[in-house]
Amino acid sequence: MREKLINNNIGNRYGNYDLVRLNGGYTNETFLLKGTSPLLVIKKSFSLSQDFENEISCLKLLQESSIVPKFIESFTGEDFQITVMEFKEGENGQSIIDNHDLERTKLLYQRIGHSLAKHVHSNKYYNASKGIKNSILSEMSFDLEFIPADLIEQSKLILEKIKDPIEDWVLTHGDYGIHNVLYSDENELAILDWEWAEWGNPLSDIAWVIWFTKLHYPSYAPILNSLFVEEYQSISPIDLYSDKIKGYCIYKVWKILHKVKQAPSDVQKEWIRRLNWTIETDFEI
Ligand SMILES: Nc1ncnc2c1ncn2[C@@H]1O[C@H](COP(=O)(O)OP(=O)(O)O)[C@@H](O)[C@H]1O
Ligand SMILES: [Mg+2]
Repeated sequence: MREKLINNNIGNRYGNYDLVRLNGGYTNETFLLKGTSPLLVIKKSFSLSQDFENEISCLKLLQESSIVPKFIESFTGEDFQITVMEFKEGENGQSIIDNHDLERTKLLYQRIGHSLAKHVHSNKYYNASKGIKNSILSEMSFDLEFIPADLIEQSKLILEKIKDPIEDWVLTHGDYGIHNVLYSDENELAILDWEWAEWGNPLSDIAWVIWFTKLHYPSYAPILNSLFVEEYQSISPIDLYSDKIKGYCIYKVWKILHKVKQAPSDVQKEWIRRLNWTIETDFEI
């Protein structure tokens, strides 16, 4: 990483700083640049994709709200892309639950409900994309040969029932949840990782939090999901019932199934298992 920084124009500016790898990410490499003032973070993605521009557009759009790191600059290399942003204080949300600190996790779930309604979904669509992708729910393709035919048919039936009026569209984060936030002792939240953001129905983010918690933390899910939803509803009331939540979960899972088209077969198998689990699960809060 250091060598690469020195070998291109990024190196001219940041090459003398040591890089400290930050943990908690799933797809990219993220580093703290040691010694800069203010402290800066470098996020490096190895595939050239539109997700990179998408994240930058969101950081710029939300700059005023202080809920996101301040965007500094970005670079594109031959086979990588780099975003430089401000370092945000706080603990990765998922490590709080993984350390079994249930009381703090409850506060965190309330906070993510609050911030989602107040700072993210409050940005309405108004037919202006602002460099951010649009939901593809109405044109979702089910053409993936590694998915069993019966799961495709059941997914289609569930998604056909969803009405997704464009008037309801807001800015959605796309991969919202405790795994993509930093939570400080002062109850401050920073929302990271905007690559999958899109203009779409607010239920897609709400459903994804419920899904993630139910799948990975089933014993905590009833209390955490209801705290999350209650706090969200206190700011922005929304009609939530199990089949609608399931529909948006199926949408999100299919988006990931398209992303794992080229992945190893064990990864694909795990996502088929999750699709099946989503179809069979009751998402009543
Ligand atoms: N601006 C930032 N300030 C502090 N830590 C950050 C910042 N951006 C990322 N991180 C750390 O790096 C991790 C991975 O970042 P993220 O954007 O979620 O990458 P990925 O796309 O790989 O999941 C985060 O969980 C967080 O711990
Ligand atoms: Mg992430």
